[in-house]
Formats: sequence, C-alpha cells, structure tokens
Amino acid sequence: MQFTRAVRPISLLILVAATVVVAPAAAQEHRNGVVVAVSAPGAEAGLAILKQGGNAVDAAITTAFAMAVTHPAAGNIGGGGFMVVHPAKGEPVVIEYRETAPAAATKTMFKKGESPYTHRVVGVPGTVRGMALAHQKFGKLPWKTLVLPAVELAEKGYLLDKHHANSLNNILAASKAFPEFQRVFARPDKTAWKPGDRHVQPDLANTLRLIADKGPDAFYTGAIADQIVAEMKAGGGLITKDDLAGYKAMERQPIRGMYRGYDVIGPPPPSSGGTCLVQMLNTLENFDLKKYDRYSPQTLHLMTEAMRRAYYDRARYLGDPGFTKIPTHLTTKEYARDLAKSIDLSKATRSDAFKDIPLAPEGDSTTHFSVIDKDGFAVSNTYTLEHGYGSRIVVKGAGFLLNNEMTDFNWRPGVTNRAGAIGTEPNTIAPGKRMLSSQTPTILAKNGKVVLVTGSPGGRTIINTVLNVVVNVVDYEMPIQQAVDAPRMHHQWFPDELKFEGTKQHAQTVAQLKAMGHSVSFSRQGDAHSIWVNPKTGGFIGAADKRLSGKVAGY
Ligand code: DON
Repeated sequence: MQFTRAVRPISLLILVAATVVVAPAAAQEHRNGVVVAVSAPGAEAGLAILKQGGNAVDAAITTAFAMAVTHPAAGNIGGGGFMVVHPAKGEPVVIEYRETAPAAATKTMFKKGESPYTHRVVGVPGTVRGMALAHQKFGKLPWKTLVLPAVELAEKGYLLDKHHANSLNNILAASKAFPEFQRVFARPDKTAWKPGDRHVQPDLANTLRLIADKGPDAFYTGAIADQIVAEMKAGGGLITKDDLAGYKAMERQPIRGMYRGYDVIGPPPPSSGGTCLVQMLNTLENFDLKKYDRYSPQTLHLMTEAMRRAYYDRARYLGDPGFTKIPTHLTTKEYARDLAKSIDLSKATRSDAFKDIPLAPEGDSTTHFSVIDKDGFAVSNTYTLEHGYGSRIVVKGAGFLLNNEMTDFNWRPGVTNRAGAIGTEPNTIAPGKRMLSSQTPTILAKNGKVVLVTGSPGGRTIINTVLNVVVNVVDYEMPIQQAVDAPRMHHQWFPDELKFEGTKQHAQTVAQLKAMGHSVSFSRQGDAHSIWVNPKTGGFIGAADKRLSGKVAGY
C-alpha cells in the first residue's frame, strides 16, 4: 500500500492537543539550533541532525534531501539552487549548484509558445553535487547519516498536511499527460489526497539509498545517470551521460554589502539575487525610511523606484559569469547615490524612460529554508525545480522529478516586448551555461555574528521579498514573525506595475501611489522561512511564513 489514513479522528484530537502543549510559540527563543522550512518533516529531519551533533550544513543537507521527498513541488534532487553558508567563525561562502544547459542546447532552440513541460526544458541537475560540495567543505557527520533520513521518509512515507495534500491534488489534475508522474504521485485508489494520508515513494527510496551508499557519483555517473539518460532518450531530451558526468557545483564568493551597519551576504551570479538586493539596499540607504510609516506612500514609492532601477540593470547585465562580463559598479555606494538622485520623490518614473526591454514571467515554485546551529553557524538555502513540480517529468523507475530550469534563459534572443519576452544577450542559451536566477538566500550579520537568515520562492519576486523582510527588520525593527507576515510589494521594471499584498486598510496609500503615477495591483509573494538572532540574549527565533504551511523546528 502506498498510503494509509494514518490518523483517525480521535487520535487526531490527541495529536492536536499534544501539539498545542508542545509546539513552540511564535516568538520562542531556542539556544541550540533551529531549522525553519515549509515542510514540517523536512525541518524536523534537519533538527534531528543538529541534535546528533551535526552542524548547520549537515542539517541543511538532510533537510534538502528530506524535502526532495516531503515537498516534491520544489524540494528536489533533479533541480538546483544556492546555499549561503556563514560559519560561526570565518568568512561566508556560497555553494552554487545551479543547473546548466546541456551541450546540445542552442541559442535559438525554443520557439515562442513552446511548452515549458518537455524533456528539452530540463537543465542538468545540480542539487546532489551541491550537497556533496557543501558536505566536503563543511560537513561534520558522515554523508550517509545525512541522506538516510530522506530514504526513510520515502520508504516509510510521511504524513501529508493540508497544504501538501491540496498541492498534490491540484498538480495531479493538471498533469494527466504525464503517466509516470501520475503513477508516482497519485493516491493509489486514484481519489483525492487528504490531510493525514501517508505518501510512500518506493522508487525514490531506492534512488536516495544509492546516493546515501555510493555518494553523488551514483547520480552523475552511475545507475541514476543511466536512468536519466534513458528518460531523455525516450522523451527527446538533450541531456547525455557526458553532460551529467561533467556537471560541477561551484564554491563562489558571496555578494557583500553593508546596509545601515549590517553586513548583507547574498548569492552572486548566476543568481541576480545578491547583486540586485545590495543595489536596492544601497539605493534606499540614501533615504531616511524610518521617518515615514512602513506603509506610507513615501516608503512604498522609494522601494518601488529602487526595485525598478535594479531590475532594469538585471535585464541589461546579469547572467552566468562564465559567459558574460558582469560590471562591478552595480553594488557600489557611488552608483546607488546616482540612482537615488534620479528618483523623483513625488512621481513615479516610467519604466519606459529607461529602455524597452521587458522581462519574461517565471514560474510558481521554489523553496527556501533557514538553519542555525548552537555555534551561530548559519545556512540560508534556496533550491528549485523552477515551476511547481518542475517539468512534471519523473525519471522512469527512479521516482524523482526533473526541473524545467531552461525556461529561466532568455528564450528568444533579441526579441523583447512589453508582454514579457526578454532577449538580452547576457542570459541567452549556450552549451554548459547556467541560466540566470533570482534566488536570494541571504544572511545579515553584525561584527561577524549572524543576525538574520532569510530567503524565499517566487521567481523574480524573490529578491523583493527579501528586500521587504530586510527593511522590516533593519529600518522598522519589527519582530521577525511580523517582518515575515507583513504585506510586501514588488516591482520588476516591466511590466511597469507595482504589485502589493496590502489589504483594505491600505486603500488610502494605494490611492496616493496611483496619484503619483504608479499602477498598483494585488499579488501574493513567496514564503520566507526565516531566523532572527536576538542580540540581547543570543537566542534564535524562527519564523515560518503563514502564506504557506511551515514549521519552526528548534531546541
Ligand atoms: O531561479 C529562479 O529564479 C527561478 N527558477 C525560481 C522559480 C520560482 O521561484 C518559482 N516560484 N515560486
């Protein structure tokens, strides 16, 4: 049986009652370590590793593998991401495990309107090599110890919460054309999943056991590589054995900035996240935001204008640094001063005033988790399959989903339009190239000590979600849960539109923003599972984002 209704109503009551007693209150401080993630079993698996004496990287590796089982929309071994690591002592580094274009990929391989759910949109996965590189550099516990919890979750199953049951039901309805997806993810009796059901994934358990026993080579040169290549051949995909064998995760220097006395540490290209975040913060530092209410038209206007300018530069300049030369001025204070001067305090700049290069829309699922251990060693990790459940292609017999990350490249070189296509050169397709990302796992530190760990899903909204959280914490001194919950806003240059999570209570602000020339509409942003370190006590406070499910697992 792939599932059982694990919890009968009566035991559910007991469980809920027990949870109420033992669950940490939102602002509970932990002294020994915290993992915050969208998936409760994922966060708990990481916490168990901390309790066994593992460090923050060990816990992050376990949570990442566990969430490949328990959060299949975005947790993955068939995708990629970015891990910002801040050791308790010493310099932060980034483990970059972004996917690459296969060797057979070409600049013009995609046509307008081509489906984002085919074998051709799969990038060479980076996650397993990324975790192995993080382990090689920082790991304390053996690799096998870190992967086995995921094997167990796949083999014995995990209990679906409401969010994950709904998510699976929605994607199953939308993925009828993918038989292996249906076989692996449908409830065995083909009825809808319910909260409390147990989801068992035997194929994935075998795959993860191979990775636990044989290490990352099982995935890149061994039996799993053979399965991926067979899947590609069957479906007309491009990834070959050589592509997999040649994949390398990278250790990179983070993008560093300083915002009102806090060190800001984010991912470098091929993510645009760190660069844009630091550029926006530098721009905002030229204004005394605190003078204005958080939801005043002035604050929202200034944030919007900082965003507009950074996203314009993102389109102009950013891509894989191995293929495109990235200007160094983007994160300087001097450049930000010029940008700040170009902002009219009473009027929206029209995005058209820069140039006509709108950006293409991105997909709908990624996930971020934050970890800190007893020594204050922190990990900020975002990883993704690009769209929710990626390409919807499950490698036959191997039980895991492949990404559709190739959609993050600029598909049609030179073709730009207001509807959302972008064709700028830095992010066109080339063999072996990494597609531009917006993932922004971020750490703020003061005097070498971690203060904030945050990040989010949400395509291009990611960078602005992180900006909102940072401004809430630094400028408005909000407690972390409030900083995460507070309505956010997003502007990405084109479409020339301010998206705002505000409610009726912000109607007057919205009216004033419209009078300044902003086009404002409602839109939700991603779930930013974060940790804040109380400078007075040194205690860790986790904040799970209520926009989705989520769990603070701490002790
Ligand atoms: O790397 C990126 O920027 C995108 N592939 C992320 C996609 C995403 O966040 C979709 N999520 N909600």
